[in-house]
Amino acid sequence: MTVTIVGSQLGDEGKGALVDRWGGDADVVVRYQGGDNAGHTVVEGGEEYKLSLVPSGAVRGTIGVLGNGCVVNPRTLFEEIDGLRDRGLDPDVRVARRAHVILPYHRVLDGIEEAGKAEDESGVEVGTTGRGIGPTYEDKAGRRGIRIGDLLDPAVLRERLEYVVDHQRTIAEEVYGLDIEGSEHAAAFDVDALHEEFAAIGERLVEDEMTVNCSDFLYHRNEAGDRILFEGAQGTSIDIDHGNYPFVTSSNPTAGGAAVGSGVGVTTVGGGEVVGIVKAYLSRVGSGPLPTELDGDADEEALADEIREKGGEFGTVTGRPRRIGWLDLPMLRHASRVSGFTGVAINHVDVLAGLPELRVCVGYELDGERIETVPTTTDRWERCEPIYREFDTWSEVDWTAVAESGYDALPTATREYLEFVADEMDATVYAVGVGPDREETVEVVNPFDE
Ligand code: GDP
Ligand code: IMO
Ligand code: MG
Repeated sequence: MTVTIVGSQLGDEGKGALVDRWGGDADVVVRYQGGDNAGHTVVEGGEEYKLSLVPSGAVRGTIGVLGNGCVVNPRTLFEEIDGLRDRGLDPDVRVARRAHVILPYHRVLDGIEEAGKAEDESGVEVGTTGRGIGPTYEDKAGRRGIRIGDLLDPAVLRERLEYVVDHQRTIAEEVYGLDIEGSEHAAAFDVDALHEEFAAIGERLVEDEMTVNCSDFLYHRNEAGDRILFEGAQGTSIDIDHGNYPFVTSSNPTAGGAAVGSGVGVTTVGGGEVVGIVKAYLSRVGSGPLPTELDGDADEEALADEIREKGGEFGTVTGRPRRIGWLDLPMLRHASRVSGFTGVAINHVDVLAGLPELRVCVGYELDGERIETVPTTTDRWERCEPIYREFDTWSEVDWTAVAESGYDALPTATREYLEFVADEMDATVYAVGVGPDREETVEVVNPFDE
């Protein structure tokens, strides 16, 4: 069977923590989209692991697969694998031969495009992670990308590089006016240097038996009765189709992406469980509207600071302070419909403990009308006024003891909050995060038991 983990909001909902929690019951953990723009945190007995590419099941020793829907920076991948080995783990990672490769020039292009947008009055700067994600997916859609399978054949690799590097160099020089020759970027556009490095990466991938035909591999695993956990990265509101375009990433973090990004049939994915991961408030790293953002006056900013500090809301990948807002139900209703959640895990309820007030946005007012889900255009979303409902707050308790005792040990006000949110999402509460550690999760349902 399969369990698909999906971010319900803007990323950083605590997906890694749940993948780690349930990864112990899985035989394979599969990333199906995104790349090293993701930053997933796993905390086991106080020991913290931050993972960008290696699927979070690695901490449990579960086989990890990077599906064809991912964009893979091999430098990051090997650094991460080597780093985990230094810490005594032995990650077993397979990479789809159909996955696209992030090359050094993709990062350069990501940077210059963002800078170009920032300078141009009509440009819309996204505040990307700078990892080259967008340019790599552009090359994929433009049918000029380089795939993991291409690294395995030096002659094919050279042919592909000659075309795409020339193409991208022309764009960098002629459109962005970049002076490449002799600059710090020269190596990123040097076909010989790229060929040497990436053909060697191909050799390592072969030696370590890391590449797979992802669809075949997972088909046979599933037929053999293995349990497959799909690890989503990013979140629904930054999905390229269902998020608030253009302030999005360049892939589909929503549940449909699990089928497309792995080659496992939609009926198999849909026949399993789909769990939406929710942060009990909102955080956003990068640009774009956030109707419930706590930035209206000094009091709101103080509240945002309190939540940011307590929740450690600083980007895992870039270290940027995350913007903070109240929980937004229109966003969550949309997420639940797009992915068809069977259950939800609501994290960070410990962070809300002891706050002077607690609000949830239950709908928006737009042009004098009430709406229940996120409008399709960012312009309209920006004009939405949140309609709030106040909730009783709860006090600090011994969360570890609560996690041990179970759901009924949660404060009454917390349960009311959780049940209201799950009900609005037409889903059941499967888990409640009361702290970052694996043991600081109140598990109501293990989706592998469903
Ligand atoms: P992901 O990208 O969705 O995997 O989430 P991140 O790892 O980027 O960000 C979530 C942060 O919150 C990490 O530092 C986690 O260790 C932490 N975290 C996860 N669940 C909880 C929770 O229930 N309570 C608290 N306080 N922290 C949590
Ligand atoms: P995880 O998996 C939060 C955001 C970036 C930027 C936009 C586009 O840890 O939840 P990109 O580099 O993807 O082109 O940036 O998306 N973003 C994330 N925000 N969590 C993430 O991943 C994110 N991955 C990308 O900040 O606004
Ligand atoms: Mg993250």
